[in-house]
Amino acid sequence: MHASSAAPAADLHLSDDDLRFLAKIVHQASGIVIRDNKSAMTRGRLVRRVKALGLNSLADYMALLRGPALDREMPELLNAVTTNHTSFFRERHHFDQLANETLPALLARNPQRLRIWSAACSSGEEPYSIAAILHRALRAHPSCDARILATDLDTEIVARASAAEYADDVIARAPPDLKPLLGTVPSGRAGHQVINPALRKLVTCRQLNLLEPWPFQGPFDVIFCRNVMIYFDPPTKRTLVDRFADMLASHGTLFIGHSESLGPSHARLRIAGRTAYTLIGRHDA
Ligand SMILES: C[S@@+](CC[C@H](N)C(=O)[O-])C[C@H]1O[C@@H](n2cnc3c(N)ncnc32)[C@H](O)[C@@H]1O
Repeated sequence: MHASSAAPAADLHLSDDDLRFLAKIVHQASGIVIRDNKSAMTRGRLVRRVKALGLNSLADYMALLRGPALDREMPELLNAVTTNHTSFFRERHHFDQLANETLPALLARNPQRLRIWSAACSSGEEPYSIAAILHRALRAHPSCDARILATDLDTEIVARASAAEYADDVIARAPPDLKPLLGTVPSGRAGHQVINPALRKLVTCRQLNLLEPWPFQGPFDVIFCRNVMIYFDPPTKRTLVDRFADMLASHGTLFIGHSESLGPSHARLRIAGRTAYTLIGRHDA
């Protein structure tokens, strides 16, 4: 591009006061803690919004956030600050546990109904990995009413999860022995594939902020909430884990991320594998 036609670089300076205000409104709305050492990364992520809105600087964007447009801008702001890193069959031990222990036990107990929630699903790699394992398990239980709910705060990422279309190199990074279970087919867009329709039928994608009321009753037999609580502070995390415990069936399992922990003991959940927990049900008491 000619230098004369290039858009001027946005001014990325933010005052400490602006950074504190930004951290406060993001935390209140999403639970995400923007740590001081992440401020450069945050500023970089907001540039996209500065450009999309035709503003010249982050200071202009902050002025907008401090005004009446905040409510309208909030979803875009949250989309910008979320970290959506994910991959197919990430933390593979959970999918091995799901295939070899969790699903066989659940289907033996109730071969008619199964509910799984991927509670911070990002672009869909997690729920479609679950669907791949579930679909194989359902071959022996064709009449089972099995469904996966996939939710995330970020509206753009949920739209991508719904589309279920992935670049070839994203699919190629899936473990070779599990990749065929995704049953991907060419999407019509060069270099992209879509997840097999049989797996997509199992998954419903919805936008949901985990901090807000949940518009469903559950219970869920399995909840995946992985690699999101690391962005929350301890009280937010504790409240969330209690709400997951409320939402789990009495034999249900909660999978959390590799660097997350519930602490040495939780009154209602006991360890049931690597970063996996089951509800201490009425029958265990
Ligand atoms: C790092 S990704 C993890 C994706 C997937 N669970 C995994 O482990 O690969 C974290 C996701 O949490 C979502 N998230 C952050 N805060 C949230 C909130 N308050 N409610 C729902 N989702 C949230 C982000 O949008 C992001 O997609």
